[in-house]
Amino acid sequence: MNDQTKALIDRLEATHTLSLDEYAYLVEHQTEQAAAYAAQRAFAVRTQIYGTDVYIRGLIEISSVCANDCYYCGLRRSNRRCQRYQLTQEEILDCCREGYRLGFRTFVLQGGENAVYSVEDICQVVRSIKGAFPHCAVTLSLGEFPRGAYQAMREAGADRYLLRHETADPDHYRLLHPPEMSFEARMDALHHLHDLGFQTGCGFMVGSPHQTPRTLAKDLKFVEVFQPEMCGIGPFIPQKDTPFRDAPPGTAEQTCYLLSLLRLIKPNLLLPATTALGTIRPDGRERGLAAGANVVMPNLSPLPVRKKYALYDGKICTGDEAAQCIHCLSRRVASVGCRLVTARGDIIQTASDRKSEALPLL
Ligand code: 5AD
Ligand code: FES
Repeated sequence: MNDQTKALIDRLEATHTLSLDEYAYLVEHQTEQAAAYAAQRAFAVRTQIYGTDVYIRGLIEISSVCANDCYYCGLRRSNRRCQRYQLTQEEILDCCREGYRLGFRTFVLQGGENAVYSVEDICQVVRSIKGAFPHCAVTLSLGEFPRGAYQAMREAGADRYLLRHETADPDHYRLLHPPEMSFEARMDALHHLHDLGFQTGCGFMVGSPHQTPRTLAKDLKFVEVFQPEMCGIGPFIPQKDTPFRDAPPGTAEQTCYLLSLLRLIKPNLLLPATTALGTIRPDGRERGLAAGANVVMPNLSPLPVRKKYALYDGKICTGDEAAQCIHCLSRRVASVGCRLVTARGDIIQTASDRKSEALPLL
């Protein structure tokens, strides 16, 4: 690692901000040594705020039907080979009951965008879950909606919303998405979510086609400026029935390095070690945790639908019961000196972001 790289990592830890050029420099000068140093700093910063706790979220993949046609995703509407399903309200509640029994206190409802459930359906299922499990957090990850729809979901009791921005570079966004999808609409949606008082998550794929150090620098800057509560990143993994089937996958090494930089940008960020990271490399999630991640999201979807939610090829844990995943994950988490906890796992406020408490909460 050269002196400049170390100096930038140290300054990022101290000030939580760098210029676009400096972020791009860090991306370009990733070495094994630089990544190890960033991981060591990120792990220390994370431990100061969250101790050794790693939060767990139960992911329920509620529908594989999607109206969008993103070039990278196996659920895109043009993919005739994707097997489509949608869970009923009762099936979703059953997943939550099972999850609650296993110790989950956050449920993440994720699914294809704007397809089968009406906004009222979504609100109803949120109300049912919050009625049955008032102390649990409900996270939605269902894509873009108009502000009024997000407001209704918030009023129904949803606590958090995940909407990956995918890339903070408008030209890159156009290379990953069909013309009817717009970067501006994605950014507007994220701002609405934050304004409405959702704990908001953005995120991006690492190694997506046409990504450059410059576009990654913009992703880092976006997180610095937007100040999300959560940020989901994982390697791009080609899916055989998509236009990007032959593109090379992202790497675990770059994903972990970026996790460390994100931790230094926002010390209290909720950062998952994603399933995609565990798919690209058997010990990917452990490495992610050691690099500064503090969340894992095992799958709570009913076993018969798991394989149908095929965002990318080779996805792990599609044949394992949630209970098995919890045991497996708690071993993996322990192997890097952390502990899986069942708390709701809200963001812990720090001095530098107290100002966000002034936002109107519903
Ligand atoms: N590889 C990795 N991640 C993917 N996603 C979609 N397709 C892929 C893929 N081929 C991610 C996107 C999306 C999230 C639900 O899954 O970032 O936001
Ligand atoms: Fe699912 Fe390891 S986390 S089997």
